[in-house]
Amino acid sequence: MISDYVNKTPKSKLLYIENKHFMPYGVSSNYRYFDPYPLYLVKGKGSRVWDVDGNEYIDYNLGFGVLEVGHANEKIIEVINDAIKDGSIMGFEYYKTGTLAKMICQRYGLDMVRFSSSGTEATMHSIRLARAFTKRKKIIKFEGHYHGSHDQLLVNVNPLKPGIKTPSSLGIPEEIIQNTIVVDWNNIESFEKVAKEDVAAVIMEPVAMNMGLIPTDKEFLKTVFELSKEKGFLVIFDETKTGGKFYSGAAGYFNVKPDIVILGKAIAGGLPLSVIGGKREVMELIGPGKVAHGGTFNANVLAVNSAIVTLQELLTESAFYHMHRLSEMLEMGYTDIAEDLGVELSIARWGPSGSIYFSESVPKNYKEFIKLDFSKWFTYFYVMLSSGVIPMGGFNEQWTVSIKHTEEDIQKHIEVAEEAIRKAKEIKTNMPIEESF
Ligand SMILES: Cc1ncc(COP(=O)(O)O)c(C=O)c1O
Repeated sequence: MISDYVNKTPKSKLLYIENKHFMPYGVSSNYRYFDPYPLYLVKGKGSRVWDVDGNEYIDYNLGFGVLEVGHANEKIIEVINDAIKDGSIMGFEYYKTGTLAKMICQRYGLDMVRFSSSGTEATMHSIRLARAFTKRKKIIKFEGHYHGSHDQLLVNVNPLKPGIKTPSSLGIPEEIIQNTIVVDWNNIESFEKVAKEDVAAVIMEPVAMNMGLIPTDKEFLKTVFELSKEKGFLVIFDETKTGGKFYSGAAGYFNVKPDIVILGKAIAGGLPLSVIGGKREVMELIGPGKVAHGGTFNANVLAVNSAIVTLQELLTESAFYHMHRLSEMLEMGYTDIAEDLGVELSIARWGPSGSIYFSESVPKNYKEFIKLDFSKWFTYFYVMLSSGVIPMGGFNEQWTVSIKHTEEDIQKHIEVAEEAIRKAKEIKTNMPIEESF
């Protein structure tokens, strides 16, 4: 399996050998590395990307869920070309940020927002804000949920021994994570045990998308909101991914009002922009002499203009209809493949995204997820790659369909997946699963 990948990508291999001398693992984010070496991409257009060897791929990773507008979207190019003529960073506030803030507040049901540039920065600020508001220290997070690469939440993201509190990176001192409490996703009992009066906030991916795609138990979600009210802590929805899956994100989908909402990834059409938003009484605590929030590149000219056109003209209700419909076709395709080939395969889908598990049923939480045997998944992945389809970014990721994907793209995906799953049924590809990414 891996040999097909190696045969098709000699230039990626060469680049890796050169780059790893100057960059650890030859990449700028651990998530971009996979064995035996990463794929180096040159360009993208619509639903496609091309690598340094000239191979074309239909891309369902889409920058880990960013590019729902498709690669090199014409509208985004036009807007950025225009905007850059007037400069890229103003230093003081750019005059259009208020327009974008209002648009986001109305669409996502928020009272106020502040902008940052990445999901990591936004979740980092959100827990500071929650602690300042409640004057409490403890933060509850869920095992298997990822909230970016900062120390306090980089705990039990992908532990090999679930249930034991473990930092998901070297270099995170015990003291830094002592106020982070880790509990099971979708598990009311586990949550009830820790939901106490000393908790500042619970942060969650409202649909778990860093262990494939694990749907949310609505009763569980209801309990989280009820207990947060009863015990006086805040609910933070980290919608870095989910915010781009439905028109008004997961909060809109579940019809709930979290105290703080984080948005990122898809909302700026491929430019780096994230949002910390929420209820007025919480957000008003941000300011000089109060809760610190800053960032040189926050709401820069390019990101703001790109976000405005993305939300106003590209990620419209009808665009979501298109993405959801094609994603459903993909789900049906995988269901048929499983049936036809008699393979134990479970499929989870939420809007434009979905994931497959080589198991009888979709896991409910991280403990069930990490127990799975991923050797079939890796066979599937390398066959997909060598056949010109990037099905998702990794074994713990999910597919995303963009506004530029077509029915033909979906058909090609299903065709290739049938072959990949047939091979996966027979051949195992054992790859190491690392505790930290
Ligand atoms: C749910 C979630 N939160 C936060 C982040 C971090 O975002 P960023 O990579 O923009 O810092 C990610 C990234 O994948 C994510 O999936």
